[in-house]
Amino acid sequence: MDIVNSHIVEYLLNVTPERDEVLRDMEEYALARNFPVVGPLVGRLLLLLAKTTQATRILELGSGFGYSAYWFAKAIGKDGEIICTEGNPDNAQHAQTYFQRGKIANKVTFLVGDALKLVDDLEGQFDIIFNDIDKHQYPKAFRKALPRLRKGGLLISDNVLWSGKVLNHKPDADTAGILTYNRLIYSSKELFSTVIPLRDGVSISIKL
Ligand SMILES: C[S@@+](CC[C@H](N)C(=O)[O-])C[C@H]1O[C@@H](n2cnc3c(N)ncnc32)[C@H](O)[C@@H]1O
Repeated sequence: MDIVNSHIVEYLLNVTPERDEVLRDMEEYALARNFPVVGPLVGRLLLLLAKTTQATRILELGSGFGYSAYWFAKAIGKDGEIICTEGNPDNAQHAQTYFQRGKIANKVTFLVGDALKLVDDLEGQFDIIFNDIDKHQYPKAFRKALPRLRKGGLLISDNVLWSGKVLNHKPDADTAGILTYNRLIYSSKELFSTVIPLRDGVSISIKL
């Protein structure tokens, strides 16, 4: 099920400005492999959120080959830091190539392994945590991320409407993970949350 009317998506994609050459290449790479990157509509939202919160330290859970991190990198200053986590080492290798081409490699630390374990070895808190790992793991990501977010920081998750499968009466494990995650972010007394039905649904939660 389309979350957003496909004509509206087409309109938004047409009216969205062209990306730089590296982002365009990343989009082509994703399209050719059916790799689920956030795409330009959500990419612009990530950049906007990072800019408006003046984020300088960002953690990504599930970075793929670096498309979403690339958008964040455009928002943070030269002293900003993005820590990417990704389970597949091939994706990490591709990401480095794109980061070097885009001259943002100095802002990114790319860690390979299970994001939910890697986070335990990181120090300090983050201005933004962007969660995009396997969907059945979203409740665990919530529990790991919350203490690592500074007050006023944002927890952002992609795919929280999961192609409309959140409406299913018999949810599979991924859908169940998302349903639990959505309940957690809305019921938490530590967060104020909303869901934007953009692309596949993006949740934005601010730590109170
Ligand atoms: C949807 S893709 C990420 C796309 C990326 N955020 C973007 O928009 O450019 C999800 C990625 O998370 C990785 N992943 C899933 N679960 C993970 C985990 N527990 N730890 C590390 N990486 C994980 C997958 O290998 C995949 O590359």
